[in-house]
Order: sequence, then structure tokens, then C-alpha cells
Amino acid sequence: MVAATELGGQRQQEGGEEVVNYLDWNNALDVLEKAYRSGLFVLIIGPKGTGKTTLVRRFASQMQKELHSVNFSLRTRESHLVGTRTIEKGQISFVEGVLVKSMRNGTMLYLDELNAAEADVLLRLDEALDDRRQLVLKEAEGQVVKAAPDWFVIATINPLSHVGTKELPPQLLSRFPVRMRLDYPPEELELEIVKRHVKLDDAHTRDVKHAIQLAKSLRDAAAVEELYYSPSLRETIAFAKMLAAGLAPRHAAEVVYANAYDQWGQVEYQKVMDMITSIFGGSGR
Ligand SMILES: Nc1ncnc2c1ncn2[C@@H]1O[C@H](COP(=O)(O)OP(=O)(O)OP(=O)(O)O)[C@@H](O)[C@H]1O
Ligand SMILES: [Mg+2]
Repeated sequence: MVAATELGGQRQQEGGEEVVNYLDWNNALDVLEKAYRSGLFVLIIGPKGTGKTTLVRRFASQMQKELHSVNFSLRTRESHLVGTRTIEKGQISFVEGVLVKSMRNGTMLYLDELNAAEADVLLRLDEALDDRRQLVLKEAEGQVVKAAPDWFVIATINPLSHVGTKELPPQLLSRFPVRMRLDYPPEELELEIVKRHVKLDDAHTRDVKHAIQLAKSLRDAAAVEELYYSPSLRETIAFAKMLAAGLAPRHAAEVVYANAYDQWGQVEYQKVMDMITSIFGGSGR
């Protein structure tokens, strides 16, 4: 059972199907387990939609550890992590933030998109993550919080090519001595993953294979900055779901892939539409 707490944004499902369906195609669960047993914190580096969050939730569920999550953004404050002082009926008390709770209870702490955080927030984290694994609460009369021995931390960062990301300061990088790279899976495994989410007949399987090829071309084009956007596994799964719901392949590709590029103008959109036409044929729906 995964109890997920989320600060800011992104919906989280509790335990559930997503986690059960996870395909461990690159042995990531084994590496995570070995790092956990060795008390080493882990950094996962990978572009969006490659299964980072699902992997972490699956691991927490497998280890039967409670999961605390923080989704970092420029708006994440120290108080989210550490806690805040409140005054109620004249009594001052301290409400613990997610970092303090996780340390005390020895849960699994998931720091998502750590490289989106501001420097002051990172500094505070750095204090907790160093080898002493403790935090001095200047917010609560200098109280010292010591992490439980089975406290475990996994962070993710998006590669620097992503708009709006900064590099993780080397100091903080060194707190996560196990680094895993999660990229898009090879084509045949991407199909396996989609099949774990959507039931496909033979005709649909063929169309999904084509969509995976399209996604791969779009990812390659984005990697060399010919296009602005790189579709993820999320899009492949969405395409398969739209097919299964009865939409024609070309139309599904248009709404899932091509239309996204309209944001950057007609030229980008048309480039993608031309690729779709060459794969799925002309305008007949
Ligand atoms: N190995 C896998 N097995 C099964 N499903 C997967 C796998 N990898 C990704 N998925 C599915 O792909 C979708 C995106 O995965 P997820 O949200 O975990 O990616 P992410 O890397 O955390 O993305 P982001 O960087 O945008 O947060 C989800 O629906 C997830 O279930
Ligand atoms: Mg995620």
C-alpha cells in the first residue's frame, strides 16, 4: 500500500493499477533495492514521461514503505519541506513539513524535479542529506531532527535540454551517489508497456507500432532541435487508448501528436502532419 502525499500539482493515484502494471525493462528495481539496502540515496535522470514516478511508486509498494513526495517548482518554499510555526489560541506550535516527517518516520522521500527548486530550498535539503542525516530546526528553537535508520531518498531531475531546468549544484549531486538514467525504451518494449495499459487487437497493435515509430522520429527531431517537443510514453498510451475507443489511426495521431505542435505555429504542425500522412495514409478517416 502506497500512501502518497503530494505538494503542488500532479495527481497521484494511491497504490493501484499503474503500479502493478509497471514493466521493469531495465532492471531498475534491482538497482533501487541494492541502493536502499546500502543506505545510498538515488538520483534518477531522464526526460519526461519515461516512467520515473511510476518506478518510484512501484518500488515503494514493493518494499511496503510509505512514500512522501515533493514536486519541486520555483514556488516550493523551505516551509513546505521543513514546516511552519503556527499560533493557535495563544499557543505556538510547529507543524512539521514533509521532509521532517519523512526523516522521523523513516519513510521513502521522493524529490521530483529537484533541479526546478530555488537555491535556498536546496541548501536546506543539503543539510538533511549529508552523512549526519540530521536537520537543525531554526524554526523550532534549534531542535535537532535525526533521520530514522531506514530513511530513503530518491530524487529525479530532467536533463538540461529541458526548458526551465537548471543544473543541480555539484554539492547536492554528491548526496546521491547512485545515479540511474531512464530513457525511452526500445520500440518493442514500448509496445509491451502500452499493452499493459490498453488491450489491443492485431490491427490496433500494428497501428501502435507505427505510432511508436512516429514518436521515435519526433524524439529524434526534438533532440537535434528540429522540433520543439518530444512526445513521451504518455502519448503512445493515449494514442492506443483513442484507437481502442474507436478513433481512426490517422485521426488519433493528429489529436495526440500533430496538434501539440500547433503551439509553435503552422510550420511545425505541418511537418508533423506530413509525417503522419506518410505513415498512416491520406486524409480519409
Ligand atoms: N516501465 C513502464 N511500465 C508500465 N508503464 C509505464 C512504464 N514507464 C512508463 N509507464 C507509463 O507511462 C506514463 C508516464 O510515466 P510516469 O508518469 O511515471 O513518467 P515520468 O518519467 O515520471 O514523467 P514526468 O517526467 O513527466 O513526471 C504512465 O502512464 C506510466 O504508467
Ligand atoms: Mg513524474
